[in-house]
Amino acid sequence: MSITKNILLIDDNTDLRSVISVNLESQGYNIIQAGDGAEALNKLDQEKWYCIVCDLMMPHITGMMFLKIIRERGLKIPVIFITGLNNIIEKEEAFKLGAQAFITKPFENNELYQKLIDAESYNKIVNRSENEIELDDYYCKVHIDEFVMGKKILFPVFLKLSSSKFIKIAHSGEDLDQTKIDNIKKHGVEYFYLENSDYHNYLKRNISVARSLLSFREIKDEKKRDFFISISKNIVEYEFQREINPETMAMSLFAIHNTLIFVSAKKDFFKALQALHEFSATVVEHSLLVSLLASAIALQSEEFNNKTVLSVSLAALFHDFGLKELPKGLADKSLNKMSTEEIQLFKSHPQLGSQLMASIKKIPEVIPQAILHHHEHSDGSGYPFGIGRIKIHPIARILAVADHLASTWSLPENKDESFKAILLLIKDKQEILDKDYIKFALELTTNSDPLLKTKF
Ligand SMILES: [Fe+2]
Ligand SMILES: [Fe+2]
Repeated sequence: MSITKNILLIDDNTDLRSVISVNLESQGYNIIQAGDGAEALNKLDQEKWYCIVCDLMMPHITGMMFLKIIRERGLKIPVIFITGLNNIIEKEEAFKLGAQAFITKPFENNELYQKLIDAESYNKIVNRSENEIELDDYYCKVHIDEFVMGKKILFPVFLKLSSSKFIKIAHSGEDLDQTKIDNIKKHGVEYFYLENSDYHNYLKRNISVARSLLSFREIKDEKKRDFFISISKNIVEYEFQREINPETMAMSLFAIHNTLIFVSAKKDFFKALQALHEFSATVVEHSLLVSLLASAIALQSEEFNNKTVLSVSLAALFHDFGLKELPKGLADKSLNKMSTEEIQLFKSHPQLGSQLMASIKKIPEVIPQAILHHHEHSDGSGYPFGIGRIKIHPIARILAVADHLASTWSLPENKDESFKAILLLIKDKQEILDKDYIKFALELTTNSDPLLKTKF
């Protein structure tokens, strides 16, 4: 049985308190409410707290005063502040006092849920004794030369002094321009560190920065390529680290790295990738993930060798290339919100993509073919031709499994799901997806849950 996590919720606004309370209870937390700091202080000894969620602006005892008091009492409970303003000075002081996070009103529920999940690692860290603290799991490193954030940084940045000591060198909202970075570099610093909870957002932002960067004529192609390869690798590594067999992961990363080097070295391919970037950062991110998963599935199967895995990975990287030819905004719409005419247009993307890729000189024939079939289903219910399993190109069948995996994974409701949960969802698609490749996908996971293996 899991232990209920108690949260002390302090806010003088009764309505807001009730809403947050209901939402957090739906996530399985036990909420105790307090209308102000004084009431909260009285309740402090009642429970063992997992986290405190506190309004910053309250009458009598403000959020900051409350934090000071509890820290003076030696309590190390994580505190998440809710604030109406993006007040940098106050934030800085609060961080010094060990506030865990800030949420600015109005906020999405998911934002608060994520911070509460992060409180877990915060608790683990502060509850260990000083000399056994290992903070490495709490931070992700970014090479100083690859650090891209724009002028104002969005997340606090740290330097590592030792496994147990990280120092904050810049707070979110602060400037960290190239001159400052160069100065830090002069001291031999190679990596910046970001908190795990910020890292994914950093990568997401990187993809959009990359998009504008790729369009700058002044930046040399070589630099653009290096940058693109490095952020792509970061993204797939991050996405792929959950419950996946480390050996396959290493091989798949190697495969995608080779693919990206190949793409960067061939002008037409690189142009195509740039065009996809200009069209949509989300599609690029999706395509990278599909490419990684497809390579991983192909590597499990004996049908493919290193050379043919490259074709799988390339076809996957460009499987949705046709989307960029559709009218603006159409690719972002969900199928059930499209008109009949729009659906028809949307369903032409495999053909459009296939034609565009076929015009690349010396492209292996299997790539446009696989792209053309990536939405065909084993039972003949797919598009554009409605052909059955035997006629669907084998690479397209791998793409379909990888595409379903990646898309299911990216749905907002599945954001925090494990790879196992996603696999279970895919398993039910046996009628439309290729059973053999689903089986290989299942073999990617280190999770040995018998539920995953049944029915095969
Ligand atoms: Fe597609
Ligand atoms: Fe796709």
